[in-house]
Amino acid sequence: MNDYGTREDPHAQARAARQLPLLLHSLSLFREIFEIVHAHHRISTVVEVGVESGQVSGIYAELGASAVYCIDPAPTDALRAALAENDALHLIEERSPDVLADLPVADLYVVDGDHNYATVRGEMDWVLANAPDAVIVLHDVLWPWSRRDLYYLPSLLAPEDRHPASSEGPTVWHDGLSRAGFVGLGAFTAAQEAGGERNGVLTAVEDALSASDGGRQLAVIPAVFGVGVVTRNQALLEALAPYRDSKLLSTMENNRIALYTRVLQMQFEAVAHAENADAMAETIASQRRDIERRTAEAADLRAQADDLRRQNERLRELLDERPATLADRVLRRR
Ligand SMILES: C[S@@+](CC[C@H](N)C(=O)[O-])C[C@H]1O[C@@H](n2cnc3c(N)ncnc32)[C@H](O)[C@@H]1O
Repeated sequence: MNDYGTREDPHAQARAARQLPLLLHSLSLFREIFEIVHAHHRISTVVEVGVESGQVSGIYAELGASAVYCIDPAPTDALRAALAENDALHLIEERSPDVLADLPVADLYVVDGDHNYATVRGEMDWVLANAPDAVIVLHDVLWPWSRRDLYYLPSLLAPEDRHPASSEGPTVWHDGLSRAGFVGLGAFTAAQEAGGERNGVLTAVEDALSASDGGRQLAVIPAVFGVGVVTRNQALLEALAPYRDSKLLSTMENNRIALYTRVLQMQFEAVAHAENADAMAETIASQRRDIERRTAEAADLRAQADDLRRQNERLRELLDERPATLADRVLRRR
């Protein structure tokens, strides 16, 4: 139940808002969608591709699955610990799609691993061929990876399955990549160009469905980078109808990614300004040191000049005290 606050507690909604991360990205936000999937399709075994923190894995077990196979080739210690607490969750430290054939056939496949065409196409093709009645839920079917490959593990892909990639990231503010965009910071790279053939998650899903034996639909829920539900279960599709292609959700998502990439750009500019300010402070400090050195040299020269002036005066006094020599007389005459 949403907490909209009361007259006595008017800040409840703001409190809830500030507890959320700045960037919502996890499938755990789609619990109500998974509740609908479980309510309309018998789900006992789940294969989850791409686990990260494990915060979604437990949801499938809570909703009634007896076995959840959690595939992630790079699990953290925190993930191992989280999965170890629940007997229904099994960590599979391998790479999808290669490992799919080694696992029991599942009723639900949740695909949120390496978001590139070759990997997702491989996953879709395998599931459609080997688990034809399974429901497939895919994350990131919308911007930024709908029509542009992301690579977590590019070295494992055949060269023809990789587009030229960059460490720069997409932004909604122009069509190219940017250092101020949605960057992987070493965790992933992005295809330099968006669009075309064999590029992106949504393109992979569309191609896999076109190549399959038909009867399935892709229902897109346009929120939090986009979730796709692939099924031929009509009751499930009807239950998803309020979310499917919702104009309201889509507009809010577009606004969210616009705001977030604007924040990324402002952060980038703030760091650049801070670096400029550091460079300027160093220049000013070095110029100040130069001025101090020259001031000290000038003081030295002034002291030397004073000394010479004093010596000169002293010499004149000595000359005045001595009996005049021929030279003095000559000098004085001048
Ligand atoms: C976007 S995160 C998953 C987030 C998680 N599903 C959630 O909603 O909270 C992607 C994960 O996929 C994993 N991954 C990358 N390549 C993979 C592959 N080929 N097979 C399975 N997992 C992969 C990464 O290690 C990373 O933990």
